[in-house]
Amino acid sequence: MPELQKLRSQRWLANNDFRTFNHRSRIMQMGYDRKEWEGKPLVAIMNSWSDYNPCHMHFRQRVDDVKRGVLQAGGFPLEMPTISLNDSIVKPSALLYRNLMAMEVEEMIRCYPVDAVVLMGGCDKTGPAMLLGATSADVPAIFLPAGPMLRGNSRGKTLGSGSDAFKFWDDRRAGLITEPEWDSIISGIARSPGTCMTMGTASTMTAIAEALGMALPGSSSVPAVEAGHQRMSANAGRRIVEMVHEDLRPSRIQSRNAFLNAITVAMAMGCSTNAIIHVIAMARRAKADISLDDFDAISRKVPVIANVRPSGTSQYLMEDFYYAGGLPALMKRIDVHLHLDEPTVTGKTVGENIEGAQVYNDDVIRTLDNPVYTEGALAHLKGNLAPNGCVIKPSAMSEKFLKHSGPAMVFDDYPTLKKMLDDEDADITEDHVIVLRNAGPKGGPGMPEWGMVPIPVKLLKLGVRDMLRVSDARMSGTSYGACALHVAPEAYIGGNLALVRTGDIICIDVPNRRLDMQVSDEELARRRAEWTPPPPRFGRGYGWMFTEHILQADQGCDMDFLQTQFGESAGEPDI
Ligand code: FES
Repeated sequence: MPELQKLRSQRWLANNDFRTFNHRSRIMQMGYDRKEWEGKPLVAIMNSWSDYNPCHMHFRQRVDDVKRGVLQAGGFPLEMPTISLNDSIVKPSALLYRNLMAMEVEEMIRCYPVDAVVLMGGCDKTGPAMLLGATSADVPAIFLPAGPMLRGNSRGKTLGSGSDAFKFWDDRRAGLITEPEWDSIISGIARSPGTCMTMGTASTMTAIAEALGMALPGSSSVPAVEAGHQRMSANAGRRIVEMVHEDLRPSRIQSRNAFLNAITVAMAMGCSTNAIIHVIAMARRAKADISLDDFDAISRKVPVIANVRPSGTSQYLMEDFYYAGGLPALMKRIDVHLHLDEPTVTGKTVGENIEGAQVYNDDVIRTLDNPVYTEGALAHLKGNLAPNGCVIKPSAMSEKFLKHSGPAMVFDDYPTLKKMLDDEDADITEDHVIVLRNAGPKGGPGMPEWGMVPIPVKLLKLGVRDMLRVSDARMSGTSYGACALHVAPEAYIGGNLALVRTGDIICIDVPNRRLDMQVSDEELARRRAEWTPPPPRFGRGYGWMFTEHILQADQGCDMDFLQTQFGESAGEPDI
């Protein structure tokens, strides 16, 4: 247990000199008596609430529960607002701003008297952003997931975030849905605070935070509006104060084995493809050696057992997953694949945390011998179309595209693609492979979720609901379809994706992890000599900095200068 005079905040508050005079008097300016804060751990509650972020609207009240817990445990809570990224609203892509939020979290911890942090996030990029920042700052940290929203409902039908939006949008384009039905879907699909309630990126990343050991056991699946979410928040407040006394920092939790646990759980959950980018970035910050090959190796041995859409075979959503036992129950079921001795924010090991966890519905959380999908959720493909790799989600696509060859139809930008999609006379068949490029980290910019290219209206009307699509973009974790994504290197910087032409034959072979175009090396070299880079996306500001410094998808899309080893020899200033 560190002595209180060694608390980081004491550098601001302990000495009786002119500098601390200011710091002390400014805390008293807020109306606090000295005995309320003197000698106590200062806990920053980093709150990503915003009127612009419906997924986090309950955080405005929930922060009071966290404060209650901190006070009960003898800490001094201070709320600190952060950037708030809503994945459905931010343009062109919330990923563009993940690193901005991560920088903000890290720097606010550094520049204020903060002994520990509770990180209130959940909507897709907010979780990874907060964990990236807290990992680099390395003060004791607990992630507090926003929790999934309630099931959607329209006219008696259950609706799932994203998945049903895509499905009913296709039906609407095919003329199968009336305006009143469409209005009912719009108002019914998101009907409470909380994050998307399918197994999208938010549910994936909050589960990953928990499996990694950075969130309280069971916290990732508690519905946002349940009283249990308030109790969990107060628990997080109490626990973070204990963590200060135990000096339990992210660097003591986030080992390579902890990340392998997180990936294993992600695969069993039928995770979002976005998980790959975030986990690789997080692991690199934590100095844990994790690559796309780890995802693929785990994917081959861990089946999908969470029967939650979009991978699921039924209508189950996160609310059902919670009632079935939540993440501790799923982890108990796959414990043979986990490193059970890893430490967590509870001060106990993973194995101790999940001891006694039970599954209450075997159809929602399946047994290992009755999985939803026999292999894991994601596959990592390589080939001359994606020399540094790409990802596909075999558990959420039509089986016939696991092996497929067809002519490419190539688009350099989304507006041109959209024209074709809406053209009832487009010269396209379901065997074609739609290629969208210049939508990667630099080209997008920020890898917009355009990768699940909608099915052309001509084919929709013929009943087609899946076809092979290839892109350097991402797709929503709630999406369904045969979409090979995150192609690296991206087309914008001259990756081979920039060289494919309409009519080239593209071959995918998921069992053998290949994605190739039938174009010779000589022809590719000839095309490369003719290739010219597209114009810059930004002339100034954050966008310019992002474009200059962003790493490719296979490296986690962190900024090069934010990586832990960058500039290591210069050390840190003593502020
Ligand atoms: Fe916030 Fe999906 S838009 S979690």
